[in-house]
This record gives sequence, C-alpha cells and structure tokens, in this order.
Amino acid sequence: MTSKEKKPKISIIGLGFVGLSIAVTNAKKGFETIGVDIDDNKISNLKKGIIPFYEPKLQNFLDDTLKADSLKFTADLKYALLNSDLSFLCVGTPPAKDGKIDLRYIKSAAKKIQKFLKLKEKYHLLVVKSTVAPQTTQNVIIPMFKDMINKSLVDIVTNPEFLREGSAIEDILHPHLIVIGEYDRKAGKHLEGYYKQFYKTLPEIIHTDITSAELIKYANNTFLATKISFINSLANICQNLPGTDINTIAKAIGKDPRIGPLFLQAGPGFGGSCLPKDLSALINFSNKFEKTNELFKAVLRVNQNQPVKIIELLKKFNVLKKNKTISILGLAFKKDTDDIRAAVSIKITKLLLKKGLKIKVYDPMAMDNFRDLFKEKIIYCSSIDECLRDSDCCLILTEWDSFRKLKPEKFKKLMKTPNVIDARRILDPKKFSGINFKAVGLGNEKK
Ligand code: UDX
Repeated sequence: MTSKEKKPKISIIGLGFVGLSIAVTNAKKGFETIGVDIDDNKISNLKKGIIPFYEPKLQNFLDDTLKADSLKFTADLKYALLNSDLSFLCVGTPPAKDGKIDLRYIKSAAKKIQKFLKLKEKYHLLVVKSTVAPQTTQNVIIPMFKDMINKSLVDIVTNPEFLREGSAIEDILHPHLIVIGEYDRKAGKHLEGYYKQFYKTLPEIIHTDITSAELIKYANNTFLATKISFINSLANICQNLPGTDINTIAKAIGKDPRIGPLFLQAGPGFGGSCLPKDLSALINFSNKFEKTNELFKAVLRVNQNQPVKIIELLKKFNVLKKNKTISILGLAFKKDTDDIRAAVSIKITKLLLKKGLKIKVYDPMAMDNFRDLFKEKIIYCSSIDECLRDSDCCLILTEWDSFRKLKPEKFKKLMKTPNVIDARRILDPKKFSGINFKAVGLGNEKK
C-alpha cells in the first residue's frame, strides 16, 4: 500500500476507550470505518452520537464523522469484517485473579473473527491492539488462523498503543512511535502501508517480532510506574526531613537528560486502567522466570502502600477520629477524565470509612461513577464550597485545574478547622503558611 493507493476500509472491534478513539480518528482522516461492539446499547447510543465516557475531542470527532457518514456502528461482526480490509482488535483484557489478564473477551472475539473471515475470499489484515501478555498472540490467536495465514488470506500483526486518557486522540494523531510486531516483513509492511496513508509525515516505526511488541507495551507502562514509585519513595523520606521538598529534588534530577523531567510528580500513587494492570500482569507473567521481577514487585508494593502514607499525613492533624469530617477534593485517577478505575480515592475512602469518619466528596467529573460505588455511605457535594463547609480536614487527591486556584482564605472561611493536605502538590506551600498545611513530599518548616 502506498499513500496514492485506495484507502483500506477499516473495522474496529471493541469500542472501549482505545477502540472508540481509534474509530473516530480513522473516520475523521477519511477512512471508511465501521465500529463494532457486542454491547447493543452502546451501539445504539453511538449511532445517536452519545459517547459512553468523557474524552477530549471525542464528541466533536464523533459528531463530524457521523455527519460525514464516514463512521458506522454495528453489533454485527460478520458485516463489519466482510465490509472492511483491515481490523483493529481492541477488546478489553481486564485484570483477572493474581494480576493475570482475563483473555475471555479476546479469545471469544478471535474465534468469531476466524469464523467470519473464512467466508471471505479477499485478503484481511488483523491488527492486535489489545494489551496482552507476551506470547499470547503467538500461542492463542495465531493458531486459530493458521490455515488462512498459510493461504495468504489473512495476516496478523501486533501493534500496541500508548494512548493516555485525556489526550487519546492527540496521541493517535501525533504518536511518539509506532511499534509493529510481525512474523514476516510482508505482514508488517501491510500495516506500514496503512500508516503511510494515515499520516502526512510517517512517525518513527520500529518493526520487531510479535512477542517483543507485546513486551514493549508492558515495558513502557512498567517503566512509567517505576518512575512514580521511585519519586513517591523519596517523597516519603522528605516528609521526615525538615526543610526538604520532593518537588525540588525532582526538578534537579529531572535536568539530567539521562533521567528526564516527566513522571516524577510525587502523589498518592498511580491509578487508572493501565499502569496498575500492566504492572501486575508483567509480574504474573515473569513469575515463571526465576528472580526476574523483584524490581516490579517493589514498584507495586510502594504504590499499594502510598495511600497509607497519605493517611499518615491525616494522623498528624489528629483528625482520624470518629465523628470527624474529611472533605475529599478529586476522585478521578487523574485530571480531565471521569475514570475512577484503580483510583487512589477509592482506597483512601474505604480506609477512612473503616475508621468511622464522615466523608464528603467533590469531583468536577467523576461524581456519578463514585456514587455507583459508594452509594449512601458518603456525602456527595455539588461544589468545592459545599464539600469544604464545616469539615475538619481537606484532602486533595486529583490535580484538577479548578483546585489549583484555591486560596487559603476559602479553607479558613468554610472549614471547621482549616487542615489541608495536598496529595498532588498543586498548591504553593508558601501561600498556605497561615493555615494548617501538609503536602506529600514536603518536610516540616525548619525551626
Ligand atoms: C498510561 C500510559 O501513560 C499510556 O501510555 C498507556 O497507553 C496507558 O496508561 P493513563 O492511564 O491515561 O496512561 O495515565 P497516565 O497519564 O500515564 O497516569 C497514570 C497514573 O500515574 C495517574 O494516576 C497519574 O496521576 C499518575 N502519575 C503520573 C503520577 O502520580 N505522577 C506522575 O508524575 C505521572
């Protein structure tokens, strides 16, 4: 395929955060695209232009492409496969027991794809986007398609994604790298041909074998997780050293080009649908190779304990007592999303409830998701002010821009006692010296 050739027709199988973002972006780029999912309700909503979760630009892209008729949605996988040349397999691989990933959805999707592709006489390229443990594509997916691969009717490649929630569409439009895992050059070249048509300037591409591509995805997320657990470990030391501030340490080491400044923001620990899941999956996968995952296990342990370290800050204000009220500002696992999967707010709320505290919460976007989880056990507020009113301690858990603007006067005016804990380092400690202020990675003022 060259950029002058006819554009392939695309189908996207599985319309979660990754699949839907890829679907709208392909359609926006002028590829005839079909999005397919087993959830009828999701499909009927998408046809009406209703998105199932918040993601910047997603709504606009969906509206535009539905209007332009370049994007169709269906629950009919057979129709989608028979009317496309290239499919992205984007079904979920949620965590199962012991950190393993649950291959149920990918196995059942691959089985159906195999059945319908058999009916097709024309070549089809199946691109595995779903994050799977190394060797899964080789051992689980490819064997199902062996006949068709031998007859050159099907090729299977792995093509991991590195999309961040909150900037998924931008990440698709401007990737730092494309990784193509292939069993022969021809298969990978087909996918490269598609990318030549997708991008005006082709991003850097690394061609490698299928298993290495799968491992690259885990390596990427595990490295990011490692940086965060590293800085959080140091932050916990700083809290015991008067006069120190983890932000200064991070700034200084980040200047070393071998380290780099990103992902060195101390906080309550990483959450979300990827970092914790992929780290646990890599640990589980590498258990079979003796003493290969000690570092990864430590990274996970540090992260699991980080919420406890935040609770220790609350202890310093002497508010861990029955009948005290704690206001939590920020529930989403990071800003600009309504996602609370593996969010630290969940763990901290559970720990505080166990201690018999009264919890009030506020988040600009994630309230409904949190309500589904905690039901009537906590108090849901519709504004920052309502959340702070008459409270004994405020705990900031997500770095929303609206929280960054908070002034000490507000806490003084509204709270019973102005105890503030900044677990995201979004407030300037110097401006908060007039109230009771503690922050992750911040040592006490030197006497
Ligand atoms: C991540 C990867 O970045 C992305 O490449 C992959 O495809 C999916 O997983 P995402 O889950 O959207 O993306 O979140 P990310 O922005 O990486 O943040 C993960 C968690 O780490 C969040 O809870 C965030 O608050 C936390 N974090 C991030 C820190 O605590 N400190 C930092 O310096 C950076």
